[in-house]
Amino acid sequence: MKTNAILGVKDAILQRHSVRSFTSEAVSNEKIEALIEAARLAPSSLNSQPWRFKVVKDKEILKRFGEKNISRTQSWLAEAGAIIVCCADISGYVKDSQASAFFYRENDLITGDTMDGIDEYVERESSADAYAKFGSSAMNVGISISFMMLRAVELGLGTCWVGMYNETEVKELANIDPELRIVGLLAVGYPSETPDQEHNRKEISDILLP
Ligand SMILES: Cc1cc2nc3c(=O)[nH]c(=O)nc-3n(C[C@H](O)[C@H](O)[C@H](O)COP(=O)(O)O)c2cc1C
Repeated sequence: MKTNAILGVKDAILQRHSVRSFTSEAVSNEKIEALIEAARLAPSSLNSQPWRFKVVKDKEILKRFGEKNISRTQSWLAEAGAIIVCCADISGYVKDSQASAFFYRENDLITGDTMDGIDEYVERESSADAYAKFGSSAMNVGISISFMMLRAVELGLGTCWVGMYNETEVKELANIDPELRIVGLLAVGYPSETPDQEHNRKEISDILLP
C-alpha cells in the first residue's frame, strides 16, 4: 500500500492528475475517512457545509457505475476502489446559512454594514429558485471535492471527478435521498496508469485579466 511522503501543497497540486485506471488493491476505510476529513475541513459560504457524501465500495454496485444508463458507459469506473458520491443538501445549505447569520448577529461577531450585507445575502439565497440554490451549494461542495483530490495525492491514491452521470439513476443505485442533489462522483483507487505528467492548461496570460 503506497503512501506518498508528506507533500507540500505545491507538489500535491503538480502531482494530481485524473486517474481512470486502477489496480485491484482495496482502499482502506482509514484512507476513505482521511479523504472525508479533508472534505470536512473545506471552507464554505457562511460555514454552511452543505456537502454530504455516500461512499460506495460494494463491487457489484461499482460495476454498475460503468453502465450506459449511469455514466454513459465510462466502464473504467467499475475498477475504482471506491466511488464517493458527492451531494449537496440544499435545504441544509439554506438552514445552516441562516443559522450562521443569526449566530454572528446575536453574538456581535459581525456588526454594522457587513452584517446587514450578510443578512441580505442569506435572504437572497433563501428566496432564490432551486436552480440558483443548487449553484451556490454546489460551489461549496466543489471546494470540498478539491480538498479530497489533493489529500488523495498524499495518500498515494488516484482520483477522477466524474460529472457525466444520470442523477436519478445514481441516486437509485447508491440509495441516496431524492431530496439531495448530486454534484459529482469522485472515483478513488490505486493508479494502474501513469497519467501524462504534462498539465494541458491555458497560459497565465490567457486567464489573468488586465
Ligand atoms: C466538474 C468536472 C467533471 C468531470 N467529468 C468527467 C467525466 O465525466 N469523465 C472523465 O473521465 N473525466 C471527467 N473530469 C476530469 C477532467 O476531464 C479533467 O480534470 C481535465 O481534463 C484535466 O485533466 P487533469 O484532471 O488530469 O488535470 C471532470 C472534471 C471536472 C472538474
